[in-house]
Amino acid sequence: MADSGTETPSIAYKVFTFEDERKNARESLCVSIPEVLDPQFGMYVWPCAVVLAQYLWMHREELRGKKMLELSAGVSLPGVVAARCGAVVILSDAADRPACLENCRRSCEANDLSDVPVVGVSWGEISPDLVLLPELDVILGSDVFYDPEDFEDVLVTVFFLLRKNPKAEFWTTYQVRSADWSIEVLLHRWNLSCIEVQLDQFNADTPELAGSNLPGNHSIQMMKITLKTEDAGQKAIHRASP
Ligand SMILES: C[S@@+](CC[C@H](N)C(=O)[O-])C[C@H]1O[C@@H](n2cnc3c(N)ncnc32)[C@H](O)[C@@H]1O
Repeated sequence: MADSGTETPSIAYKVFTFEDERKNARESLCVSIPEVLDPQFGMYVWPCAVVLAQYLWMHREELRGKKMLELSAGVSLPGVVAARCGAVVILSDAADRPACLENCRRSCEANDLSDVPVVGVSWGEISPDLVLLPELDVILGSDVFYDPEDFEDVLVTVFFLLRKNPKAEFWTTYQVRSADWSIEVLLHRWNLSCIEVQLDQFNADTPELAGSNLPGNHSIQMMKITLKTEDAGQKAIHRASP
């Protein structure tokens, strides 16, 4: 459903505190995410976003300078955490959802991120904004597989971006809402590979994360999706040839 984005929204700020006690010194990062009191999908933080943000936080030393696009960012918790950890981030949401794009901008403002571009990218649409995106290392997507009718369109966009950036990876968290849903056939159709990242590898296997009980008892999983190796290889050869 498209939104008009014309009404003044009622906003509440939710604070997430990511902590890491693996080293001698305790490190932490606090981000504040403005949520809109509205039943639409992209107006508040979803449990998957906290899990993906936790992954980014626990890998923060590898993020510095990485070029990242968050797809369907909504209120943008993962993208904001990545940017605060030194990644070069672009946020996006559906081009026909100005209120969601405004949420992305508001989240940046709330976290003193003045140089994060926000663009409209709609699943399955090869628009000028999508085509003109700069080079990327990582694409982020939290809770983008929530309606099976859209799964292929999401993967078409991911495939387009990975073909353009053959070494890039799509890091995505999803909530298991039905045991019948699977993207396996679609991954095969679009020549994509997938590995699962276990939540206990980044201390996300708990009902509470970053001071939030959003993950709760939801069954959340994380995947990294890449182009199938031979495709990545062909593209690399293609690029290297004169
Ligand atoms: C379940 S919410 C997840 C939001 C955010 N990533 C999170 O995890 O908190 C789904 C997101 O998909 C976006 N979305 C819906 N339809 C879309 C489309 N056709 N193209 C791109 N994004 C879309 C919504 O605006 C919303 O931000």
